[in-house]
Amino acid sequence: MNILIIGTGYVGITMILAFAEMGNRVTGYDTDREKVNRLNMGLLPIHEPELKETLSKHLQHNRIVFSADAEKSIQHNDVIFICVGTPARADGGANLRYIKLAAEQIGRYINGYKLVVIKSTAPVGTQQKMVRWISLAQIHYNNVLHPFDVSSNPEFLREGNALADALNPDRVIIGSTSKRATDILKTIYNKAACPVFITRPKEAELIKYASNAFLATKISFINELSRLCDKMGVDVREVASGMGMDKRIGSLFLKAGIGYGGSCFPKDVSALLWEASNQQISLSILEKVAEINRSQPIYLMARLKERLGGFSNRIIAVLGVSFKPDTDDIRESPAIGIIQKLLAEKAVVRVHDPVARVPAQLFDYGVEECVSPRLAAKDADAIVICTDWPQYSKLNWPQMKKIMKFPCILDGRNMLSAKTMRRIGFDYMGVGSR
Ligand code: UDX
Repeated sequence: MNILIIGTGYVGITMILAFAEMGNRVTGYDTDREKVNRLNMGLLPIHEPELKETLSKHLQHNRIVFSADAEKSIQHNDVIFICVGTPARADGGANLRYIKLAAEQIGRYINGYKLVVIKSTAPVGTQQKMVRWISLAQIHYNNVLHPFDVSSNPEFLREGNALADALNPDRVIIGSTSKRATDILKTIYNKAACPVFITRPKEAELIKYASNAFLATKISFINELSRLCDKMGVDVREVASGMGMDKRIGSLFLKAGIGYGGSCFPKDVSALLWEASNQQISLSILEKVAEINRSQPIYLMARLKERLGGFSNRIIAVLGVSFKPDTDDIRESPAIGIIQKLLAEKAVVRVHDPVARVPAQLFDYGVEECVSPRLAAKDADAIVICTDWPQYSKLNWPQMKKIMKFPCILDGRNMLSAKTMRRIGFDYMGVGSR
């Protein structure tokens, strides 16, 4: 099948590769010509396992091409996936500007039946809006009106695992009331070894938000519980392991830490809260989820501050900037808030991350970027682990302790063994750990 993907961000690029792997010919459209040229040369704008090799394989076999030509891209493909961003507006709602632009281009260049599939995370009712926007653009630009369907097909891929998730999803959600559209989507996903759930577009749209909101709730639940564990000398890791053995609860997304970040959870929780208040409904659990996530780094920094007797002129080594391992994405990363807090309290902040970069504006406040955890930790008063990069658990910790001024460590991801670290001589603080 010939498939067009509009938008070459995280989701777009991953889906281009996934659909090519499934045997389709895929065009990736983006308005950014420079980006399109670089992608055609196999150069990716994101760090993500497996993408580079897979892209060069499909470029060589001409199964993937990138284009900045909207007219040709739309006219040569009958199935169009919308993978553009839906960033948060200042009021927390989702900004549908890029979705609307895509709809207007489709309406303008449509030359026969098109199936338009919304993969971007978009609020309930977006599919209906898309139908209207495409129709209005058709009426405006064309003499002949062509048939089209718009379906919702949300993505659930995780950064750092994006291609594997896209190829082996837990479920495929199809929101459509058109048999023609549903049949095409079923054919596209016929190799997926998972349930295909067909529902109406509105339900599909809410499934995406509700899923992310629920996962965020699990994280905030365990993070808040970790505060009680701190007070009572209980290890939250043990508690989470025991809870997770109950199939009804499940063990995933119960890892206490500095809070969730990334391009999805914070944005999607805000968008759902905005939607609820728009409907004059209070989603009080979710309000708390967002609040706990905001306060978790503050709570942990207060504990560290107390232990160090203040941050002023203390050298703090921050390990990890990305919102999670295996990505260079720092969007909404709790590490950034932690660095800002330390700087505001006049600490000397040294940062290491294997791939992610500190935002440029923080250099003005004196952040030092270090090429190794060792350089960051030299003469430091404390280490704060913000991202659970696997290489941090393999560090030579006895040596790290030797080069520090004061061997204090706040393991913000509970990735190290408290027992081992204390045996080495560290003043070890985990999140809700003994
Ligand atoms: C998420 C969803 O998992 C995915 O289905 C959706 O489509 C996009 O949003 P992603 O943002 O890539 O994916 O990352 P995810 O692995 O879900 O982690 C999100 C954040 O939660 C990270 O900051 C992570 O460190 C944190 N987290 C996750 C925890 O703090 N504890 C956990 O137990 C799990």
